[in-house]
Amino acid sequence: MSGELSPIDKAKFVSAKRAAQYVEDGMRVGLGTGSTAAWLVRCLGELVRDDGLKIKGVPTSSRTAQLARDVGIEVITLDEAKWLDLTIDGADEFDGDLNLIKGGGGALLLEKIIATASDQMVVIADVGKEVETLGAFPLPVEVIPFGWQTTQALIEETLISMDVLGRTSTLRMNGQTPFVTDEGNHILDLHLNRIGNARQLALVLNQMPGVVENGLFIDICDTVVIGYGDGKVEVRDINEGTVATERLDFVESDNLFSDLTE
Ligand code: 5RP
Repeated sequence: MSGELSPIDKAKFVSAKRAAQYVEDGMRVGLGTGSTAAWLVRCLGELVRDDGLKIKGVPTSSRTAQLARDVGIEVITLDEAKWLDLTIDGADEFDGDLNLIKGGGGALLLEKIIATASDQMVVIADVGKEVETLGAFPLPVEVIPFGWQTTQALIEETLISMDVLGRTSTLRMNGQTPFVTDEGNHILDLHLNRIGNARQLALVLNQMPGVVENGLFIDICDTVVIGYGDGKVEVRDINEGTVATERLDFVESDNLFSDLTE
């Protein structure tokens, strides 16, 4: 089956597989959303099933909750867990300080709450997600449906005084209707091209009425596990200041590579 995977999927898979090594017996683990996080959930499911790993997972979306249950991971709520040992999640972009853009999958609100409630956040990503400056990926902002067009106008007006290159935004759609998040909100994607001061922008956006949360994760991620299409994995730890490289054996596994729903 592995021969059917594209290099980018291989990169996502090896980053997820390497990150699964952070998970230990008894941990309460935040489970991210997206195609890379789906690999992680599958890897953890295999460890639960084959090695008897005992964990409780707190999913960051209904999609991930479903997948986690399907692969045999015990799912609990954040209120049941109260605090987490570790969250492992994907990202749309990460920079040299391990600041992130997230929310491409529309789950940024729960992802940020859960990552913030964790002792450690490990991001799993293919090497294409690394950027010098955040902002090429449109910044997702979750807004409540009430008056979303007014909120959008307010955001665009506010962007005039921000250090960004683009100032347009679009309502995320799901076919003909607006995309609705797990919490019943909409997403505005901000086309900024380059974000000069991500910390300031994150604070300003979250002060606006109608904005629930934005997809900038500042000082939340501790470690990034970067996967390459040839099986190479690079682990960067911002707290330790370490960078380590290794190569993972790409073992074919029908259980992991079939029926991927993300
Ligand atoms: C979902 C996210 C995802 O982590 C992000 O979009 C990356 O997704 P993928 O692993 O599919 O590239 O933030 O809200």
